[in-house]
Amino acid sequence: MPHILEFENVSRSYQEGASQIHALRDVSMAFSPGELVAVVGPSGSGKSTLLHLAGALDTPTSGAVRINGQRTDQLNEEGRARLRLKTIGFVFQFFNLIPTLSALENVAAPALISGLRTSIAYHEAASLLERVGLGARASHLPEQLSGGEQQRVALARALSLGAPLLLADEPTGNLDSETGHQILRLIGEFREGRTIVIVTHDAKAEAVADRVIRIKDGRVD
Ligand SMILES: Nc1ncnc2c1ncn2[C@@H]1O[C@H](COP(=O)(O)OP(=O)(O)O)[C@@H](O)[C@H]1O
Ligand SMILES: [Mg+2]
Repeated sequence: MPHILEFENVSRSYQEGASQIHALRDVSMAFSPGELVAVVGPSGSGKSTLLHLAGALDTPTSGAVRINGQRTDQLNEEGRARLRLKTIGFVFQFFNLIPTLSALENVAAPALISGLRTSIAYHEAASLLERVGLGARASHLPEQLSGGEQQRVALARALSLGAPLLLADEPTGNLDSETGHQILRLIGEFREGRTIVIVTHDAKAEAVADRVIRIKDGRVD
């Protein structure tokens, strides 16, 4: 069985004018189903770069990222998009909900895009909203919800196609400390049968994680 997610000697550099920024340097690691891993490091240490590579939103400058054994650099843009839709749920710092859609419609969107029948998509979206404690807010627009509630909607959406890999980039970065803690605990409730990677500079994530990876200056510490 291949690992759900594997980094093998991964480096990612950015060209900035005449100079190169080495955002990730020779990173190797592997993730198994059912584990919640916190990748912790200060601002600028390469966390978002790592998450974008893990989510096939970006490809390495050298080395290989494999998702379910598939090298992301051997897929074209369309192949990576298909892989993301099938396999990966994303949660971001600023929630990234569609402002004109209700909570229910936001959660149903991935299932509708992937061609699921409308009635089934909405039925599953409703039950996911229940599971994140927002059953009573299904018809609310994002702007009618608190930050913590919006992040719950984003989490429900990320889980909507039963994705085996959940990737979160600073999911508590825009929330107060107590709300952030609640979101981290809630994310942890969904680890069964899937792999969850949270990248963050929030030390609270270490308390809910099964394993902590520290990065600094683009290297695993
Ligand atoms: N698109 C980009 N172009 C140039 N430099 C970038 C780009 N994205 C990130 N960087 C640089 O790479 C380093 C790591 O950034 P990032 O992965 O965003 O770190 P973190 O998420 O830990 O704050 C930083 O020095 C950042 O300025
Ligand atoms: Mg970042």
